[in-house]
Amino acid sequence: MKPIRVPGAVEWSHYFLRGCVTEGDSVVDATAGNGYDTLFLAKLVGEHGKVHAFDVQSAALDSTSERLQEAGVLSRCTLYHRGHEEMSQVLPMGAYAAIIFNLGYLPGGDRTRITRSQTTLEALRQAEDLLAPGGVLVVVTYPGHEGGWEEASAVAAHISELESPQWNVQHIRRANLSHARPPECWAAVRRPA
Ligand SMILES: C[S@@+](CC[C@H](N)C(=O)[O-])C[C@H]1O[C@@H](n2cnc3c(N)ncnc32)[C@H](O)[C@@H]1O
Repeated sequence: MKPIRVPGAVEWSHYFLRGCVTEGDSVVDATAGNGYDTLFLAKLVGEHGKVHAFDVQSAALDSTSERLQEAGVLSRCTLYHRGHEEMSQVLPMGAYAAIIFNLGYLPGGDRTRITRSQTTLEALRQAEDLLAPGGVLVVVTYPGHEGGWEEASAVAAHISELESPQWNVQHIRRANLSHARPPECWAAVRRPA
């Protein structure tokens, strides 16, 4: 027997992205933050694909831009200094293979600038329409963070009500640490056309 390394919530989110996204796809990172997810997506879509990434903080976009530049993939990414609740104002419906929300605060930044239930739910509704048939909507929630419990509960209530069979909704979390409220990964796969 060998010791198994169990993935955390962010790794699970990447598992779903990797499974769905192929070269040439267009995808969305709804919370750019420090750009780790944006970079992960930029590698998946390849030089002919496109990543659209949103954040409300210029510090986050600067950090993301620097990371993408260093990796030589900035030209396949468009960064938006606006809230993800405005996604549908700049992106067309039904066009994206994957959309990820990695919620909460900017690591290393201002912990009071967190994602919030009301705008997150509005953005999730838009993301459901922006997703192409067969695409995946991935959400990482942080119920243990300041303000995170309310948002994680709102996301759980919303996403677990997506209709079957149009949506296949998966939920992964560590089940025996509920007092610590560990991060959770949700993935909603839209039924192929
Ligand atoms: C946990 S971080 C994202 C981590 C990031 N995906 C990465 O790989 O480094 C959450 C980010 O959401 C951003 N945020 C907060 N409210 C937002 C909103 N309404 N629209 C878009 N981003 C928002 C914060 O500024 C923060 O940078």
